[in-house]
Order: sequence, then structure tokens, then C-alpha cells
Amino acid sequence: MEKMRNITVKPINKSFNLICKDIAPDKSISHRCAMFSLLSDRVSKIENFLLAEDTLNSLNIASQLGATIKQDGGSIEITPPKELQEADDILDCGNAGTGMRLYAGLLAGVDGLFILSGDKYLRHRPMSRVANPLRTIGASIDGRENGNLAPLVIRGGDLKSFRYHSPIDSAQVKSALILAGLRGDKTSFYKEDLLSRDHTERMLSGMGAKVEKNSDGWIEIEPLKAPLNPLDIRVPADPSSGFFFGVLASIIEGSSVTISNVTLNPTRIEAYKALERMGAKVEYIQKENIYEPIGDIKVSYNGKLKAIEVSSNIAWLIDELPALSIAMALADGISIVKNAKELRVKESDRISSVLDGLNSCGIETEEYEDGYKIIGGELHSSTINSYGDHRVAMSFAIAGNYCGMDIEDIECIDTSFPNFFEILDTL
Ligand code: S3P
Repeated sequence: MEKMRNITVKPINKSFNLICKDIAPDKSISHRCAMFSLLSDRVSKIENFLLAEDTLNSLNIASQLGATIKQDGGSIEITPPKELQEADDILDCGNAGTGMRLYAGLLAGVDGLFILSGDKYLRHRPMSRVANPLRTIGASIDGRENGNLAPLVIRGGDLKSFRYHSPIDSAQVKSALILAGLRGDKTSFYKEDLLSRDHTERMLSGMGAKVEKNSDGWIEIEPLKAPLNPLDIRVPADPSSGFFFGVLASIIEGSSVTISNVTLNPTRIEAYKALERMGAKVEYIQKENIYEPIGDIKVSYNGKLKAIEVSSNIAWLIDELPALSIAMALADGISIVKNAKELRVKESDRISSVLDGLNSCGIETEEYEDGYKIIGGELHSSTINSYGDHRVAMSFAIAGNYCGMDIEDIECIDTSFPNFFEILDTL
């Protein structure tokens, strides 16, 4: 049996003012850099690529498919092969839903046999949300539970165009379909009710693809006639990773944190807006625009937080809800999260893993099918099971800086934020 790594986090007992330039690079954008470079015929240059398990797996898959990769720390050059090749082994996505779902869309239209697998958590996450629409356009995808569970076996081939109105607002589903649409026989159309994170549209358009939203809300996807321009990008910091420190600054009197060079893409910073609604002071300073707006976010303590209800724009803060729940646990009043059923199919069932942790810290909660209620109170030190979920582990580590915490099973943090504890230690 694997041995679990555990950690004890102590309260910091003092205020801090941190300017943080080394928050992990953005995970969503790094995955896409590894994959989209395969759609060009020239060398893509990527600075500040996220060197964490999830994104290194995506990079490794690019190399298995024939790309040549030159790497010097986070500076990476990816030379794509003329044609993507069949790999002689499975393509291991590790813990990453983004890796598996986007590669499924990308490979569905490529000649060859491809087997996508992952760790024990990923092998239990639903894949029919991409497999089913891809099958309707001619993709051959199979897996356990009729193609719902990995390993996924893909026999790439010709794809038809589509007009698909997605029943879920998911950037992974949207991106998989857009990537498949680039290999369709005619123009395809994709629609979602609430705009999910749009890195795929921004990056592919920046590379020269025709992926455009019409006035009626449908994204129009033109099949590729020629390889795309290569990427030339510096990956911004990940606002989801920075948010842990934002929450910490908002609960420790007199504190502030500046997260430098982070993406200010509106589909990614909604959790900071929620923290603002709870009473924290949040400032956004835009500095540049590379595929998307980039700048600094400063979060400062501004008195005791107030409870809020979070029930709209859920896709824009879904990844930050575990950390936001720590803020809710310490806020005055009753906070409610609704319309967040997607939390149940993340790296863990985040509704039950977050509530389990909060309950063991003495916080009263109520669980709903699509969310929860948190009665703000006082957090007490406890022992937390991360359920192998990086965001649960980091959220309770932040709580640990407030009141002390033992956290079990923390190696999952390496999937997205390997230097998390180094930054925490500077406090
Ligand atoms: C991601 C999309 C979101 C998010 C995930 C990363 C992406 O998932 O939760 O962490 O990079 O496209 P869904 O598309 O399932 O909502």
C-alpha cells in the first residue's frame, strides 16, 4: 500500500503583507499550451509553463504523439511532428480531467489508436460528457460503462461537423468539441448557457483558427485548412492557486497579499468578486494583454467577513469554492452555495469532502444535492482527510494557518501547485 504524506500546519499568529511573484503558473493555460502546439507546424515557445504533475503529463503525451520538447525549467519549446503519431503505450493523464477530456477531442479526429488513462481518481470521473457528443459526429470512443469511465480507447478517424447545445457549462467539454470541430468536414457550432472559461477560444483564435462567437451565442468553428501559427506565450499565474492566499489575507487581521502577473480573465476571477462581496478589499491592476488580460490582484483584510449566497456564474468560481468555504466558515451569518452540482464530479466529491472537513473543525453545515449551507462560526483545529484532492488539501492548509490543522494525504498538491508550502512557509 502507498504511504500517505501528512502535514501539520501551525497558526501564523501575526499579520502578513506578501507580494507573491511565484504563485503557480496557470494550469488551464499550461495544459492548452502543450496540446495546441500540436496544431502548428512550427516551434511553439512557452515561458513559465506549470511544472506540476497534471500539466507535465499533458506535455509528456504531446511528446508520445511525436512532438520534440526542449525544456529549461519552465521555458519550453515544442516542435510538433508533421503528423501526430500513434503512441506505443497508454497516454497517462494522471489526475487531470482537463488532460483527458481535451485530448479525447483532439485525438478523435487523428488517424490511429489512442488509449487515455489516469490515476484512480480520474478513472472514476465521468467522461460520457465528451464521449457522447464526440460519438455523434463519428468518433469511435469506448471505455468502461459504455465509454463513461477511463481507460478510454479512441480509434481516431473522420469527423462530421456538428451543432451542439451543451447541457453543462464546462470548458473541458467545450474545448474537446472545439478541438474536434477543427477536424470536422464542415463548419461546426457549439453553444453553452453560461460562458465557461474561454482560454481555448482566445488561444486558438490567437493562433489563427476561426473560432468565433456569433451574436446569437453560438461559437462557430471552421475546420483547419492549414496548420496554425505557433504559440509564443508567457503563462500568467493561476488565479485559482493565488486564491488560497487571497482567502488567508482576508481572514487574518491586518494582512494583505498581492498576486503578481495573474490572468484577469473575467471567467477566472469571480471568486475574488465573491470575497469582495463578503467584505474583503480587492484591487485589480491590469498590466498587459497576452491572449487575455494579465495584471496583479491585491486582497486585503477589511474587517470580519460577512456571509453570502453564491448561486450564479458558478462555472466562474467552481474551482475556488473549497477555499471560499473556509472564508464562509469564519464569516458572520449563513452562507449558501447552490447550482454547484458539478462539485460532485471534481477531483473528489467536493461537496462532501469540504463539508466533512468543516464539520470536523466544529462548523455546522447542511448538504444539498447541488450545494451546501455553512453557518459561520469559529474554526477549530482538527485532522482533515483531503480525499486525494489538491484543492481540499490546500484550503484546509490555509485554515491551518488560522487555527492549526493536521492534513492527511497531501501529495495531491503536486498536481497543481508544487511550491505551495514554500510560499506558506514564508509567512
Ligand atoms: C478546466 C475547466 C473546469 C475546471 C477545471 C479546469 C479547464 O472544469 O473546473 O479545473 O481547464 O478547462 P469543467 O470544464 O469540468 O467545468
